[in-house]
Amino acid sequence: MKYILANWKMYLREFEQAALCRRANLIKYDAKKLRLVLCPSHFALPYAKNFVKKPNEYGAQNFFWESRGAFTGEASPQDLTDFKCHYVIIGHSERRTLLNETDGMVRKKVAAALSAKLTPILCVGETLDERNSGHALERVREELREDLKGLTAEEIKRIIVAYEPVWAIGAGQPIAPTEAVEMHRRIRETIGEIVHGAVPQAVIYGGSVDAKNVRDFIIAEGVDGCLVGGASTKFDSLKQIVDIVQKYS
Ligand code: PGA
Repeated sequence: MKYILANWKMYLREFEQAALCRRANLIKYDAKKLRLVLCPSHFALPYAKNFVKKPNEYGAQNFFWESRGAFTGEASPQDLTDFKCHYVIIGHSERRTLLNETDGMVRKKVAAALSAKLTPILCVGETLDERNSGHALERVREELREDLKGLTAEEIKRIIVAYEPVWAIGAGQPIAPTEAVEMHRRIRETIGEIVHGAVPQAVIYGGSVDAKNVRDFIIAEGVDGCLVGGASTKFDSLKQIVDIVQKYS
């Protein structure tokens, strides 16, 4: 099973998200081979609920770990499930770096998502400095250790890990697929060490994936799909990506 997760970030206006939720229903693919998950902004979740039709699925880009209370500006796990979300992106590097989201916060979100029966899409990845100083693997391992602390193998089975090297996001240049293969292998190995024998639902790659390069990732060993930002925000390019994934998976 391959995953294409479309992270629309804050790229689209409300009416554009509504239109893309509807138009994405025109993309045809074999749901036994591929899952297409749209992640609009919170404000567009009502459109997702009304317009996204099976086999397409959808999720949110963020949430808060508490279920109710005085948390100005936040949305709870129940808010997402009220909108029938099945997925939530957690720990995206834009939130870690711009909003100081820590591993402690990410861990609470992963646990809250699992309790609410949402599938967490946990993002991990090294910065350019960490990569250049030879610490990429160490950083990713540290994130996994911190973010998955206290979980059982059964819980980890319900998590999608997105390897997103921070320097490759929005850069127009992804990591070399061979490097993604190696990091994905190490991610699986690390998770199996953290909780003996644990295997995540999927390990996907994100960072400058588009219709020109998605094939290289989809055919790469241990890459279960892609988290696509910019290239998922236009219908034609989203459709091309899905067509290519369908063809090569
Ligand atoms: P990008 O973003 O495809 O625009 O690089 C990927 C992501 O941040 O999820």
